[in-house]
Amino acid sequence: MEIRKVVIPVAGWGTRSLPASKNVPKEMLPIFKKPVVQYVVEEAMQSGIEDVVLVTNQNKRIIEDHFDHNFLLEQLLERAGKKDILEEVRRVAEMVNIITVRQKEQLGLGHAVLCAREVVGNDPFAVMVGDDLMFGMQPGIGQLIEVAVAEKTPVIGVMEIPAEKVNRYGIIDGREYAPGLFRVRNLVEKPPVGQAPSRMAIVGRYVLTPEILRFLAEQKPGHGGEIQLTDALQRLADECGLLAVKIHGQRFDAGDWVEYLTANIYFALQDEDLRYDLVERLRVLLSCPA
Ligand code: UTP
Repeated sequence: MEIRKVVIPVAGWGTRSLPASKNVPKEMLPIFKKPVVQYVVEEAMQSGIEDVVLVTNQNKRIIEDHFDHNFLLEQLLERAGKKDILEEVRRVAEMVNIITVRQKEQLGLGHAVLCAREVVGNDPFAVMVGDDLMFGMQPGIGQLIEVAVAEKTPVIGVMEIPAEKVNRYGIIDGREYAPGLFRVRNLVEKPPVGQAPSRMAIVGRYVLTPEILRFLAEQKPGHGGEIQLTDALQRLADECGLLAVKIHGQRFDAGDWVEYLTANIYFALQDEDLRYDLVERLRVLLSCPA
């Protein structure tokens, strides 16, 4: 099994990020110096993936433009002698081969993945949710690819979450056959608190085999009236087998304001030039009465 393509759905409305996301896709909102989706694409690149299939809609053109040249800007930076930033701007334009497909109606994450069917063809592929960020010693999707290749089985990424948050995620019921590795029996989309089979939540990383596309095509709308990827994963688990890997690292859901802001601080604190001033500023803010 070899994973060359990743499908990154970025076609959702991003209602939780309004009004910021009214005309700027939430996947293009900045986290420190880069847009959210650039972190996701970089994670894919670091994991050996060569082709990125962006599932977009008509308001999301600037996402593919971000991964292309802006020659006027590059000329201007060259003339101004701004070498470092010019290099960075060019690196982003050249880092990846982008293929875009449209999701014409926002019918859910499962439907967005199905929209990439023609491009994915008959090969196994990765899926990375476009507003879910992961950072660690090893890239999140790379951790899944390693297991999928070794076991020749589709794999989903999970993380342990607090019991009171299970109603925000797909949750797995599985047998832990090695530390952090599960054979998935059942998946439940957003179970009520107190009724979840575990605290292992599906986070936005998957390595899937082409059968999932057939299951998605036959899938009826599920939770929230959307075509849920989780429902098609249940069929994959039943008919082909499905593993889950506990991903090691930090995760930020950029569609959630607290997580989005924390991610900004996390990256800014890693910048030598900013850290001191930022910490000082935060210290003053925290000590001020509201
Ligand atoms: P979210 O679950 O965050 O949904 O999607 P959303 O609709 O964009 O955002 P909210 O909940 O209204 O704030 C996770 C990822 O899947 C994409 C989104 O763009 C996001 O990157 N997505 C979601 C699609 O591409 N199509 C869909 O129909 C739904």
